Amino acid sequence: MLEIGPANGIFASEICNLAKNVSYIGLDWSETMVEQARDTNSQLMKNRSVRFVYGNSKQLMLADNSFNHVLAIHTIYFWNKPLQHLSEIHRVLKQGGRFYLAFGDRCFMEKLSFTQYGFKLYRRTDVFSLLNKVGFTIIQSQQFHETGLSNSGKIQNKTINIIECKV
Ligand SMILES: C[S@@+](CC[C@H](N)C(=O)[O-])C[C@H]1O[C@@H](n2cnc3c(N)ncnc32)[C@H](O)[C@@H]1O
Repeated sequence: MLEIGPANGIFASEICNLAKNVSYIGLDWSETMVEQARDTNSQLMKNRSVRFVYGNSKQLMLADNSFNHVLAIHTIYFWNKPLQHLSEIHRVLKQGGRFYLAFGDRCFMEKLSFTQYGFKLYRRTDVFSLLNKVGFTIIQSQQFHETGLSNSGKIQNKTINIIECKV
């Protein structure tokens, strides 16, 4: 499994415990996050096939057809040319491999003040089109609605999209 943008890797152990013999690479374009992820998961890295590497999904230094699963959670907002990233993800997945993408929907993200700075926002239908363009087949998509505190301390209704697609 490849995770794009695991940040400090806080979910890596949970992900690795979902099945036996999971081999996991967490790839992040922040060196600080890669270091933190290695610190947080030092025990996991000793016991399991787990690595955290520095890199950018725009150009993955990884072989074609080499992963069964790719995961990207709350990362698509930061991709200037999302088709490049999605094509790379498609390239490294094996035939039949799955890509799971999760992101906050444009409908509430656009109301948050910080998203004016460098975020590209999407509705799920926008993302379906991008995924189809690079050759993914959408398997299922779910929307979760939750209420929580925003960074500014206000109560915020959130809509989170989770899309599963395959090569
Ligand atoms: C908002 S955080 C989300 C962290 C984690 N996935 C979560 O949901 O809790 C985004 C992370 O993705 C990384 N990131 C975003 N785009 C990336 C890319 N194209 N390649 C590698 N890392 C990326 C950032 O450095 C950051 O650590």
